[in-house]
Amino acid sequence: MPLRRFAAALLLTAACRPATPPAPADETVSSTGVVVSAQHLASDAGAAILARGGNAVDAAVATAFALAVTYPAAGNIGGGGFMVVRLADGTATTFDYRETAPARANATMYLDRDGRILDAATDSGWRAVGVPGTVRGLALAHRRFGTLPWPDLVQPAIALAERGFPLSAPFADELNWAVANVLAPFPASVAAYGKPGGGAWGAGDTLRLPQLARALRAIAERGPDAFYTGWIADSIAARMRANGGLVTHADLAAYRAVERPPLRGRFNGHELIAMGPPSSGGVVMLETLNQLEALGLSGTARGDARTLHRRLEAARRAYLDRARWLGDPEYGEPPVERLTSPAYARTLADATDTLRAGSSAVLGRDILSPPPEPPQTTHFSVVDAQGNAVANTFTLEGGYGAGVTVAGILLNNEMGDFNKKPGYTDARGAIGTPPNVIAPGKRMLSSMSPLIVTRDGALRLVTGSPGGRTIPNTVLNVVLGVTAFGEGIRAAVDAPRIHHQWMPDTATFEDGAATPDVLASLRAMGHAIRIAPARSQGDAHSILYDPASRQARAANDRRSPDSGARVPPPR
Ligand code: DON
Repeated sequence: MPLRRFAAALLLTAACRPATPPAPADETVSSTGVVVSAQHLASDAGAAILARGGNAVDAAVATAFALAVTYPAAGNIGGGGFMVVRLADGTATTFDYRETAPARANATMYLDRDGRILDAATDSGWRAVGVPGTVRGLALAHRRFGTLPWPDLVQPAIALAERGFPLSAPFADELNWAVANVLAPFPASVAAYGKPGGGAWGAGDTLRLPQLARALRAIAERGPDAFYTGWIADSIAARMRANGGLVTHADLAAYRAVERPPLRGRFNGHELIAMGPPSSGGVVMLETLNQLEALGLSGTARGDARTLHRRLEAARRAYLDRARWLGDPEYGEPPVERLTSPAYARTLADATDTLRAGSSAVLGRDILSPPPEPPQTTHFSVVDAQGNAVANTFTLEGGYGAGVTVAGILLNNEMGDFNKKPGYTDARGAIGTPPNVIAPGKRMLSSMSPLIVTRDGALRLVTGSPGGRTIPNTVLNVVLGVTAFGEGIRAAVDAPRIHHQWMPDTATFEDGAATPDVLASLRAMGHAIRIAPARSQGDAHSILYDPASRQARAANDRRSPDSGARVPPPR
């Protein structure tokens, strides 16, 4: 998805209190709250809710609905995600609104008669769709913590969809690409997202989404039941039936979002509040950080060969455990406590050669890598004036999901996150371990890693990112910047990123992550390293919080061209 990769020099509003040190011009400083997301109009929607007295959860719900309009590649009501919430009083919880497999799904549904994986069937079209979770998830978060009326939180999205909004040049380019590729086989999707009258979208054109506005209006008026049991559910079920999809009215009616206790860990004097299974993100991040603590990362610099080698080795082992152990906790018992314990990390660290690259093939010879995931998901972070915080990552899986729309709603292709061929591994990287094999009603394993970090019990960092299996490593890149390398939020977000996911046994470095000398040292240690374009791994819209001054400093990730941080406008 190369068109997402533009640098944008955004001059962001700073609402500094005079007594605090000046923030870099590209951080947004506020003591009245801030919303930072991949699309500035969605950040505006959330910030307006803060200005009306809504809390961080209210603002998160409004931002999420607005992203479903203004960031259709990943913002959604037809997909799913995860939300981590921490209130100013220290209470923390998570919401799992991951999609589920339809009741008629089965473990071999993406195999042909000869047992070959039908990748195309999970990439695109009606059979790729999991039962969406977003609307129930947002409603559950709102029921638990929201303070403003539900319809008020959906209203900004309705207005954006009805009146339309102007396209930036990168957005217009991306939409033209999506219409010509992902959406092209599906006439209703082309009608919804193509330029009226034909031709290509250009910068400044207005995108209106009247069908989506109607669906959002129903959700505003009737609540989530409009989606799960009302006319939207009827439409989804009818279109699925007509097109060979599996999602039924009963699947939609049965969908439940789940509140789960957060996964908790510690690193370098900080506490981490993360998402547990069915996301793998929290386990991978905590297992990696525990190893780094055991390997002695503290006090080193971001670009040292010593630091980078330790990070690659820790990631290699954490991602191997992800592949081996993790899946929906309601369909098995992932050994989360063991994997995230410092004692286990110590055993991994003791077996790590600090001078030579390990071998993924030797470490994980019993299993192989899942295929790569396409890059579209989106993360946003919110802090309000009281210090309540929300980290939310949600997705349609691939950009524009399965490409299919019902009632103007783009539906996900999340079924592709399951292991598709049970019990079978091959040299090309298919994986068949049991925890993530398809079963009716099961949630597919995710890498999404919304994260809140505290220090001495006080809020410090709110972060997360898209990027498929790169996500935990991207988030760690920001976390390490703040907790280990002494960086401010802008530097931690901007810093070039690295990735290793056990298999394929090749690390990816964003251009600039290491000097030529350091790269040479790492290669001499045995690491295979591929240099990826600068600013190509994830977009981690993040907030650093200073509990003493109660100021939030937000850095939008400029890897995402239309991103923006917004503070509540004066009333
Ligand atoms: O849940 C997951 O891990 C994937 N479906 C996320 C996909 C993704 O992040 C693509 N992103 N850029």
